[in-house]
Amino acid sequence: MQILRNEAYFLVYAAVTKYAAQRCIWTFYKVAMLKIKNINTYYGQAQALTNVSLHLSEGEIVTLIGANGAGKTTLLNSLSGIVPPQSGQIFFHDTPINNLAPHQIVRLGISQVAEGRQVFKPFSVDDNLELGAYLKQKFLSGKDKVKKNKEFVYDLFPILRERKKQLAGTLSGGEQQMLAIGRALMANPKLLLLDEPSMGLAPMVTQEIFRVIENFSREEKTTILLVEQNARAALKMAHRGYVLENGRMILEGMAAELLENKDVQRAYLGKDKKEIWER
Ligand SMILES: Nc1ncnc2c1ncn2[C@@H]1O[C@H](COP(=O)(O)OP(=O)(O)O)[C@@H](O)[C@H]1O
Ligand SMILES: [Mg+2]
Repeated sequence: MQILRNEAYFLVYAAVTKYAAQRCIWTFYKVAMLKIKNINTYYGQAQALTNVSLHLSEGEIVTLIGANGAGKTTLLNSLSGIVPPQSGQIFFHDTPINNLAPHQIVRLGISQVAEGRQVFKPFSVDDNLELGAYLKQKFLSGKDKVKKNKEFVYDLFPILRERKKQLAGTLSGGEQQMLAIGRALMANPKLLLLDEPSMGLAPMVTQEIFRVIENFSREEKTTILLVEQNARAALKMAHRGYVLENGRMILEGMAAELLENKDVQRAYLGKDKKEIWER
């Protein structure tokens, strides 16, 4: 009798465990917006990414940290179709995108803010924003939508509204970064890729930009992949993080855990950086 009871307990336990595991897998696949699986990316003969995997769920802010030359930009460019991986897979909402052209990837809802705050310098702030909507314009319901998106960007970064007739080349570094982000937002991205938005900016300006990014990600449910060398500031804003070293993903975890990780602290959160980036 005792044996039978034990067996019954075991069967119930096994069924519950199996159900829980299936739920877990199902939930992950349902909410995972982006799945990068074992990609390998090359420049000619030189391999820049080796078996890199990463996933993002809807509404998450995830940061990818790593030293100069680690392969962070290459990962974003692999994702946006600029430097397609030679092998591996990338799924966006379960659609394979590793063979698509960059403009097709933008249309699916992925926008990239390139390294070095690239804006069209001879054009006004307003024209820069209109150009951001251009790729998607026929999918947006005409001029009203473009106007609405512009107002949205001006509400996020009021300084851009004040400078809307000014040529982009005459803006400060921080304002150019805001414009570069605003231009990407004009395409209504579901996933925004940011490549080192803090580069060359004063800590106060970076903090302001990060604050805006955090707010609109929460309010608009925009998913964000933030590439940064400033690991502390990035990990403080993100939910999760990945660490890339020499083209390989060496660590991933919750942002709070990575901030406490001794290896991460030693390699990426030096004391000098701590003093500068402590909020
Ligand atoms: N266009 C390119 N041609 C050849 N090698 C490149 C090119 N861009 C980057 N690399 C190399 O790929 C590696 C990763 O670079 P990158 O992705 O720019 O790193 P990160 O953005 O982390 O600083 C580096 O060794 C870099 O020299
Ligand atoms: Mg880079």
